[in-house]
Amino acid sequence: FVSVKDQPAFKWRGGMLDVSRHFFPVSFVKKYIDLLASYKLNTFHWHLTDDQGWRIEIKKYPKLTQISSNRKETLIGAQQILRNEKKEFIYDGTPYGGFYTQEEVKDVVAYAQKRYVTIVPEIEMPGHSVAVLAAYPELACKPGDYEVLTKWGISKDIVCPSEETFQFFENVLSEVVQLFPGKYVHIGGDEAPKDVWKESPEVAKIMKKNKIKDVEKVQGWFNARIEKFLESKGKKLIGWDEILEGGISPSSTIMSWRGEKGGIEAAKHGNTVVMSPTTHFYLDYGQNPIPHNPKEPLMICCYLPIEKVYSYNPLSKELTQEQHKYILGVQANLWTEYIPTAEKAEYMLFPRLLALSEVAWTPYEKKDFESFENRLSEQFLRLDLKDVNYRIPQPTGLDSESIVKQGDKVIITLNSIVPNSEIRYTLDGHTPDETTHLYTKPIAVPSGRKIKVSAVTIAPNGRHSVPVELVID
Ligand code: ACM
Repeated sequence: FVSVKDQPAFKWRGGMLDVSRHFFPVSFVKKYIDLLASYKLNTFHWHLTDDQGWRIEIKKYPKLTQISSNRKETLIGAQQILRNEKKEFIYDGTPYGGFYTQEEVKDVVAYAQKRYVTIVPEIEMPGHSVAVLAAYPELACKPGDYEVLTKWGISKDIVCPSEETFQFFENVLSEVVQLFPGKYVHIGGDEAPKDVWKESPEVAKIMKKNKIKDVEKVQGWFNARIEKFLESKGKKLIGWDEILEGGISPSSTIMSWRGEKGGIEAAKHGNTVVMSPTTHFYLDYGQNPIPHNPKEPLMICCYLPIEKVYSYNPLSKELTQEQHKYILGVQANLWTEYIPTAEKAEYMLFPRLLALSEVAWTPYEKKDFESFENRLSEQFLRLDLKDVNYRIPQPTGLDSESIVKQGDKVIITLNSIVPNSEIRYTLDGHTPDETTHLYTKPIAVPSGRKIKVSAVTIAPNGRHSVPVELVID
């Protein structure tokens, strides 16, 4: 009846899930993979290890699952808010842990393969490795008492680039590469402060022996050896853009997250790149124009609306057409410091992941946000059928640019992109719900007095958006 001819603009179309800061069960990992596949995203980046928990069974190192996969408690609340208020950190006092057995990993890999999704496992080194040190402190330059971290951030405690550490990671990777048939293995490489390395006689010896002048370059030396090892197993190395600073081989792939700078530099050198800048693809960032809006669930920071995700052009003008061929594609990342549940993960991912799909599939020149929005609106019902807790978009039109003064009245025209939804509103400061005014036509409010207008979208499934509010003065 119909023939579809289509091809994606980019071959790497990814979504990442951090299962270290919070652990997600296999059932959710599969659901995420299903959703990636249904929007024709083909890469699942599984962030399996970090300071707050190691999440994959490694047979040779049982303490990784006995010790590194558990933390004694978890930070409550948003770290940066607390810091601004100069309050003490507060912890929940509840032990937290979880990991995937190799059997579970195999099951997930097979599940993904059936859906044409490739899994890229991430094993962080040399930073974000405190959970490793908690079980194997002999891998530190300064062996001591390490505990799986209970709060977020960057730790100075990183593994020592010693022979023991190479042995450890090579053994770990030997098991990892057997589990994941994909070409790429992600080695992290981000946020690895060198404070400990600077003071370590062992690192000084390595620098002397290998004629390395700058301690930052020791990470490049470390990665080069890991890359050789991966290559011997038929795999390719990918790492966060920090790995550029230590010097990289021509065959490494960069995941550019601190903006596009690293990706652009790498492409100029002929390295392949996945663009994943915080500015457009960090889906742990909020969707409310008011960051830290108390009506939203707690989130790390910022405002990243779907329009902005959609607007991204992976092919920077700073690169030539020839260099554009090094841009493999794009990826959205879901870090989970403030995302403890599947429901909240879905709230952050959707609907913004759909915009990523179109960035990945449609050449920049052909994208059209209005057309996307029309097609997006039809997806809400599909997401309902899949039981996805997407964020219900707030009504539009309640901002100072959209309202119109007409004589002694102010006219407010509201809209929702969710089909068959209701908009409910109040003019007295109450939170709108099913018992308040139903929006049927533009609202006229008298000008010359202060009035607070609040409106929500109520989707056909009964769920409410967060209210949007405007004080008209
Ligand atoms: C990262 O967000 N630290 C890669």
